[in-house]
Amino acid sequence: MCPFFVSLYCMENKKITIAIDGYSACGKSTLAKELARELDYTFIDSGAMYRGVTLYAIRTESVSPTHLDKEKLINALNDIQLEFRKVDHERHLFLNNEDVELEIRKKPVSDFVSPVAAIKEVREFLVSQQREMGKNGGIVMDGRDIGTVVFPNAELKLFITASIEIRVHRRLLELQSKGIDSTADEVKDNLTQRDYIDSTRAESPLRQAEDAIVIDNSQLTRSEQLTLALKLVNEKLNSPIRT
Ligand code: DC
Repeated sequence: MCPFFVSLYCMENKKITIAIDGYSACGKSTLAKELARELDYTFIDSGAMYRGVTLYAIRTESVSPTHLDKEKLINALNDIQLEFRKVDHERHLFLNNEDVELEIRKKPVSDFVSPVAAIKEVREFLVSQQREMGKNGGIVMDGRDIGTVVFPNAELKLFITASIEIRVHRRLLELQSKGIDSTADEVKDNLTQRDYIDSTRAESPLRQAEDAIVIDNSQLTRSEQLTLALKLVNEKLNSPIRT
């Protein structure tokens, strides 16, 4: 269903690409999911795909607290099949036909995902799948390199930020809602470390695309953030805004 103020655009049935990047736990996926629902677009959580590869690496002992066997993981990439399927109105990640949506949010995966995501071959493997998923537009994808690498020509690019305190608080609530135990210190350490690795790695580091619009959502509610983003979509589409 299209909200009224983007309805003219929807009637024309043009589908654009919306790229959402930013640091960990800024609410990118929440915004991407809500935007996709409002616009009747497809939502892709690219971080889930990096998490899926990481879960596979943990299970096949390519990664552990003491080592990362890059060669082993790179050689196994063709054995990894990732797919998003609808489960109870949510999109879950399936790894080789297994629903791993809950497993990929847990601490072991969060601890190892950034080093795995820094591997060039892993990125190439996933970026080509992400481009394929978005080739017809009508997609909202969130991640770290969506506006810079995956879809450099995306019509709308958003870069989301929020204070570390707010991000820790939100991530704790999210984990609690999924029944996953964690402490504020653990979450803060994980976010800080991941942000550092994600933004300093050699391959496609997290950075704001030059043409991205920055949204600091520290003081915004979910619905305020969604309204703002829909307004930006509307401006991009150059269609009338409801007053
Ligand atoms: O969005 P997330 O926190 O679930 O992402 C998990 C990790 O995956 C993140 O620390 C960095 C990596 N990632 C990436 O490198 N590129 C993306 N497009 C998405 C995620």
